Amino acid sequence: MHILDPLAEHYALEHSSSLDSLLDQIHAYTLETHTESHMISGPLQGHLLSMISKMIQPKRILEIGTFTGYSALCLAEGLTPDGILHTIELRAEDANTAKGFFDKSVYGKKIHLHVGDAHAMIDGLLENWDLIFVDADKTGYIDYYEQLMKIVKPGTWLIFDNMFFHGEVLKEVIKGKNAKAIHEFNEHVQQDNRSENTLVTVRDGLMLIRKR
Ligand SMILES: C[S@@+](CC[C@H](N)C(=O)[O-])C[C@H]1O[C@@H](n2cnc3c(N)ncnc32)[C@H](O)[C@@H]1O
Repeated sequence: MHILDPLAEHYALEHSSSLDSLLDQIHAYTLETHTESHMISGPLQGHLLSMISKMIQPKRILEIGTFTGYSALCLAEGLTPDGILHTIELRAEDANTAKGFFDKSVYGKKIHLHVGDAHAMIDGLLENWDLIFVDADKTGYIDYYEQLMKIVKPGTWLIFDNMFFHGEVLKEVIKGKNAKAIHEFNEHVQQDNRSENTLVTVRDGLMLIRKR
């Protein structure tokens, strides 16, 4: 299910600045070679992530779910000159692909890539996060949120991806463990007074959260 009318998406893309050519390369490579290429953020969301990062000008970014490195490089565009982005990927093969692209990027030296289960790694990264992007196992979203809310300072921005879960959460009866988990997450954040949140209807839905 397309959340955004494909015509509107096309029009929006036509009226958004071009992305770095390396991002176009990653996008094309992922679409051609990866069996789960639909997971990539893509140009419209990628540009939004880049813009948000440029607005925040973060010193420390955490990304959960590197995949082929596309969103990490979008987010890295807003880092301060001394800024660092940590990104965590469970699958060694995807991490390896991402590393190949990071090595070609002007932001490569600012990116620390970790391979493993993010749930077990977050607490070991002793950083003062300014911006966090979560785009990994959907059934783990409430755990990630709770884990992160314990360690982040007021004013930290968190972005969670796939809030519509391909439109599944909009159905009268929500089926499937991922769609159910995303709906529970949306309800969880909505009733939490520790943060403010807005669900942005770009691509598959992004939840923007700011810790109070
Ligand atoms: C939707 S893709 C990420 C897409 C990427 N952020 C982008 O926009 O190009 C989700 C990624 O999360 C990874 N992942 C799933 N569970 C994870 C976990 N527990 N820890 C770290 N990464 C995980 C998957 O292997 C997959 O590569």
